[in-house]
Amino acid sequence: MSMQNTSRAEQPTRRRPRCELPADPAAIVIFGASGDLTRRKLLPALYELAAADCLAPRFAIVGFARSRMTDDEFRKQCEEALRTHGEPAGFDVGTWQSFGNSLSYLVGDYDAPEAYQRLKERLDALDREHQLGGHRLFYLATPPQTYPVIVEQLGRANLARPKDETSWTRIVVEKPFGRDLPSARALNQQLLRVFDEGQVYRIDHYLGKETVQNLLVFRFANGIFEPLWNRNYVDHVQITAAESIGVERRAAFYETAGALRDMMQNHLLQLVALVAMEPPAKFDALAVRNEKIKVLQSIRPFEPADVAKQVVRGQYGPGTVNGTNVAGYREERGVRPDSTTETFVAARLWIDNWRWADVPFYLRTGKRLARQVTQIAVQFRRAPHIVFRNRKLDPNWLVLNLQPDEGISLAFGAKLPGPELQIQTVPMDFRYSTTFGEVGASAYATLLNDCLRGDATLFDRADSVEAAWALLDPVLQDWAEAPAPEFPNYAAGSWGPPAAEELLARDGRYWRNP
Ligand code: NDP
Ligand code: BG6
Repeated sequence: MSMQNTSRAEQPTRRRPRCELPADPAAIVIFGASGDLTRRKLLPALYELAAADCLAPRFAIVGFARSRMTDDEFRKQCEEALRTHGEPAGFDVGTWQSFGNSLSYLVGDYDAPEAYQRLKERLDALDREHQLGGHRLFYLATPPQTYPVIVEQLGRANLARPKDETSWTRIVVEKPFGRDLPSARALNQQLLRVFDEGQVYRIDHYLGKETVQNLLVFRFANGIFEPLWNRNYVDHVQITAAESIGVERRAAFYETAGALRDMMQNHLLQLVALVAMEPPAKFDALAVRNEKIKVLQSIRPFEPADVAKQVVRGQYGPGTVNGTNVAGYREERGVRPDSTTETFVAARLWIDNWRWADVPFYLRTGKRLARQVTQIAVQFRRAPHIVFRNRKLDPNWLVLNLQPDEGISLAFGAKLPGPELQIQTVPMDFRYSTTFGEVGASAYATLLNDCLRGDATLFDRADSVEAAWALLDPVLQDWAEAPAPEFPNYAAGSWGPPAAEELLARDGRYWRNP
């Protein structure tokens, strides 16, 4: 059964979303412009915005890094990146010509005051030449240990304050935002010594995904589900962010992080907040973020004695993913052979408020799992009285599939055709690709566009980053003190360690493996 029988769904379109009004003209400075994030995500996202008429006709992108490169070499690197990673916008020679002309590059050490003087002179010159209105966006795409020094130098060079009363200056800070509560607090303090909170955009790319935003639309633009969205009707919620890839080339970073810091502290807890929050009074940054922080603050803290019962960690061993034999984590390049870094984590959370009292939220994320899927699955309570005796009835599930196969599916029981009464679970499906065509904005394009327009709704606030760390710090402490687990404890290509199954089995539940 399908909800797709509308005229729109019968004629799927392949379109690229466009902006009705371009953003302000601005200079965008990318620190770490020689790096992976710039190449794979930021330049393609900016290009995507240019192709969709979302950038102002006048804009300038300045790459800043230590690697020696001329403007032309930087343009060449950018062109290659767009040709390789430029989906979904594709590569268009005409758009590239004007985009390429907006690019320039500055070589400098992140801690060298003279480099920031040169940056200031370059920005002033670009302002005069292209009438950029003095608007400036700084993007920290460097390893996190360099954030404090860049922020400090921007302050010293008088680049942190808006140039005049009609211009704006903003700074985007990449994850990881700290590695525990004290370091996140220290980073917030460093940032807020130089910038105001309203200038700071802490990015979590999950919040830029179309389907994550659609979660808000689904909940707050439709009347039918909201009355059911509470402890009276919901049995429990499962959030899965499973990756089939391994640690790839990021072992140096991952060895210092692990799945809890890399995925759960940010992406998964953000999803919990969006699923569980109260309807905001308005759809703006203040109202939405005020509601999200209340959820994070309502999650029951982990007691040290309880961590082992509520949180499961795992690490993949060798196995088979999509028919290919793959190495275990400890055999990956750059990983210590006795590493105790977790590549999987599952947890049970309780949200102690009126809406969600006694409704468990089960979260899991991991690398080298059976398949790549990110989904939120809500299981509803069973009918209070079953009149169909001796018939096996599955529970009703509402599944929001965030990636891949973006869509929403509702499972319910239907009578099988025939003389006997037999019940089968059937899905009611909405698929983005069938209804809207395949081309959506990438998460980074959405978030950069919001940032250029001064809309911080989908960015993290200082208090919410700290609330997430406050929740997980006891887990990190317990893991640091507890004896090292028997790793590896799951095979690549499986759904994680047996203990993750037991976490739900103890509650009489099971993971809904897609
Ligand atoms: P890279 O390791 O590629 O570093 C970016 C640039 O920073 C490098 O090209 C280098 O430029 C400079 N750099 C590297 N190491 C150091 C160092 N020790 N001290 C000073 N400068 C250094 O990082 P990514 O591009 O992968 O990531 C950038 C930021 O974005 C990080 O904070 C990362 O956690 C975050 N991030 C990255 C994602 C990704 O997919 N790559 C995803 C999500 C977040 P140069 O030597 O030329 O100055
Ligand atoms: C990043 C993590 O934030 O998110 C990566 O650092 C992870 O380890 C990635 O692979 C997953 O993002 P996505 O958009 O592919 O689900």
